[in-house]
Amino acid sequence: MQKRKTVLDILTMKKAGEKITMLTAYDAAMSALLASADVDVLLVGDSLGMVVLGYDSTVPVTMDEMIHHASAVRRGAPGAFVVGDMPFGSYQTGIRDAIINGGRFLKEAGCDAVKLEGGLEVCDVVTALVQAGVSVMGHIGLTPQTATQLGGYKVQGRDVESAKKMVVEAQALEKAGVFAIVMECIPDELGRIISEEIAIPTIGIGAGVHCDGQVLVTHDLLGMFEKFIPGFVKSYCKLAPIIKEAVADYSREVRNGEFPDKEHSFSSQSNLRELLGLS
Ligand code: KIV
Repeated sequence: MQKRKTVLDILTMKKAGEKITMLTAYDAAMSALLASADVDVLLVGDSLGMVVLGYDSTVPVTMDEMIHHASAVRRGAPGAFVVGDMPFGSYQTGIRDAIINGGRFLKEAGCDAVKLEGGLEVCDVVTALVQAGVSVMGHIGLTPQTATQLGGYKVQGRDVESAKKMVVEAQALEKAGVFAIVMECIPDELGRIISEEIAIPTIGIGAGVHCDGQVLVTHDLLGMFEKFIPGFVKSYCKLAPIIKEAVADYSREVRNGEFPDKEHSFSSQSNLRELLGLS
């Protein structure tokens, strides 16, 4: 089993110039595979809603759904550093709700930290969570929970004013106490500048190579999710056609009586019918 990383280990990786790898996980089988492939951080993202639960956005995802899946991820990878994504509505309603819900990720699901989206408007909540003992990862740039307010799923921080705002947000989140910040869908030069301006690690998704780490949705990396593939995604293999072919082979063999064959069946006495007293 891998030695479970701590927040301090993640912070030290930036200082040492070591890149951080983070991937999403939603179940025990996948988290076990990812952990054995030495991924530094497993994120139980609220992308769960679109990737696994079939919602059109991340907005409908509930705390109970997140806890259910985060617990499975923890069971599959007891030695992994696991971050639970706080779903829409679980921290916007006030500090008390944020602490109750953030605490659930630690107490019920065994997570090491939580992630939440937003800039200046969430700094109070971040500080309160950290003071309550919940480590927090920030998330700026394209924030899917509020994508409609940002004009949809598009690159953020392209003009000087919004780029400046993002630098200020990253600095404010660092001051508020986050231990790392996800930066989604921003120009690579802005990714570089923010990574240089703050001492905590930046983890990019569509934010260029200069971030201190990278995150992808695992189903995108594996080519399993064909509905929508953002431009920043690199699929390292294409599992969707392989899965479809294997399933079609299975169905064909079942239908024509090829499966199960002798190798996949259990034998018994050849005169079983007689032994059972059946004619
Ligand atoms: O929910 C998620 O998977 C995320 C990542 C895309 C960073 O927030």
